[in-house]
Amino acid sequence: MPRRAPLPRRSLGLNGAGRDRMTEAFEPPPVAIWSGDDVDLEVWLVDLARDLDLLVARARDMGSLPNSGTEGDVAKVAAGIALRLVLARHVGIDRARLPFIIAPGGKPALAVDGPQFSLAHCDGAALIAISRDGPVGVDIEAPRAIRISPDRRLMLEAEAQSLDPARPLPVEPPDRRFLQAWVRLEALAKTTGEGVGSLLGRVGHATDPLAGTTIDGRAVVVRDLDLPAGTPFQAAVGGVGRRFAAIPSAAAFQLLDARHLLA
Ligand SMILES: CC(C)(COP(=O)(O)OP(=O)(O)OC[C@H]1O[C@@H](n2cnc3c(N)ncnc32)[C@H](O)[C@@H]1OP(=O)(O)O)[C@@H](O)C(=O)NCCC(=O)NCCS
Repeated sequence: MPRRAPLPRRSLGLNGAGRDRMTEAFEPPPVAIWSGDDVDLEVWLVDLARDLDLLVARARDMGSLPNSGTEGDVAKVAAGIALRLVLARHVGIDRARLPFIIAPGGKPALAVDGPQFSLAHCDGAALIAISRDGPVGVDIEAPRAIRISPDRRLMLEAEAQSLDPARPLPVEPPDRRFLQAWVRLEALAKTTGEGVGSLLGRVGHATDPLAGTTIDGRAVVVRDLDLPAGTPFQAAVGGVGRRFAAIPSAAAFQLLDARHLLA
């Protein structure tokens, strides 16, 4: 499988003045990505095309790299290493290296006190969300041709639209529209931890709409993540609670660059 070209350099720095300088100098990034209020949420973008070798080297140091495997397996290990490095900022590297506790639906969690997290990877990139405000779910998808029946496509897009009615899905091209819908649905499934199979089974139930999903009585909210111009991926993040809900649709999230972790 050919490797995807690295993301545009500008796209991975932090928003605002000094972005490129910070990317090059590997200065520690700020922790909060949403500056509009006090939501304790970070989202890290991992450029697997650009940083795979650095992450693989780190994986070898940590004894996490299998001797053989496909390129996809290696990228998955690299994304997992990036996750451990992000978690280490919160709980220290020794605790971040402990095996995760896996819930029945597959959702991983730290074995020690610490934030909740979510990981997603696709061809060329990974996304990591960290929340101290409760469950979080993230998804990222690379562009690809979608094969799905028109009826099913319409139904899934309508469900995804209902998750954030104030934020219209992109109109064109159709596959980009569908993938933006899909990442919303998957971000929801990963926030609840139920998995995509269960979530798809709930699609179209008028009495139990996806938009009314709660966890322990707290509403699940899904927001699109606008990746910087030139970035080919679609992404969304889900979370719970009043403060997460206060994040406006189309919020200008500042994504953190995982390369900062490799300095
Ligand atoms: C979790 C799931 C949504 C991942 O979808 P994906 O597009 O293949 O993979 P992503 O890159 O987005 O996410 C993978 C990560 O999600 C996390 N994850 C796995 N199961 C999860 C769950 N139930 N909830 C939240 N996060 C989960 C893991 O960190 C995983 O990383 P890993 O593969 O390196 O261990 C999907 O595999 C799923 O639904 N699994 C549950 C079982 C299920 O319902 N299967 C039917 C599928 S139709």
